[in-house]
Amino acid sequence: MFKLFKKKRKSFINPVKVDMHSHLIPGVDDGVKDFEESITIIKKFLSLGYKKLITTPHIMKEFYDNSWDTLAEPFHELKKLLYEQRIPMEIELGAEYHIDEFFIEKLDRNEKMLTFGDNHILVETSFYNAPVFLKDVLFELMTKGYNPIFAHPERYFYLAQNSNLLNELKDMQILFQINISSLQGYYGKHAKKIAEKIVENGWVDFVGSDCHNIGHVDALEKTIRSKSYQSIEFKNIQNNRFFRR
Ligand SMILES: [Fe+2]
Repeated sequence: MFKLFKKKRKSFINPVKVDMHSHLIPGVDDGVKDFEESITIIKKFLSLGYKKLITTPHIMKEFYDNSWDTLAEPFHELKKLLYEQRIPMEIELGAEYHIDEFFIEKLDRNEKMLTFGDNHILVETSFYNAPVFLKDVLFELMTKGYNPIFAHPERYFYLAQNSNLLNELKDMQILFQINISSLQGYYGKHAKKIAEKIVENGWVDFVGSDCHNIGHVDALEKTIRSKSYQSIEFKNIQNNRFFRR
């Protein structure tokens, strides 16, 4: 027998209006491949209730030697396409800085960094080894007036093995951004466990998609629609502070 009615999708609540971690500028890092993919993904974010995307291309000297000079043109092109296609999504350019010796040189030279919000700067490290100078760099960022956001702490193997360091970073008042899909196990069991611990401790300052491609936004949707995600009450989440309207 034919189904007369389409099964209605369950509604969901997404209190997060601003995503502040993604790779939606084509050709500048390991994110989206072309503008078509960017637009498809942005439409999907719109359907999930997002109003603003702060996109954060990798800045990692050896692989993605990006700066405002390499990013401004494709960013403005994307903005123009959104305007022409009347897609009501605000976008802003940030970056995800890899903490390494090149980053420290930039910091020491007082080079202008790509920040967003109130001088917020998104930083990441190698997945395997903590830079020996991690805490010093974060401290230096803070003394120079930046608000460092540590990207996806749940995904670092060195933090899985040394949870003290996670506590120490929080004691330093470093802001934590977890990837939403980590809570569904998208990045593996360990990442899920640490993400859950960060949530339980009330340490989530920001949630992000870390969207690099269509697959990531599909996984994001699956998590947002899940019962377990819907039941989380993020107490200190700050994403929406970047949306002023
Ligand atoms: Fe990222």
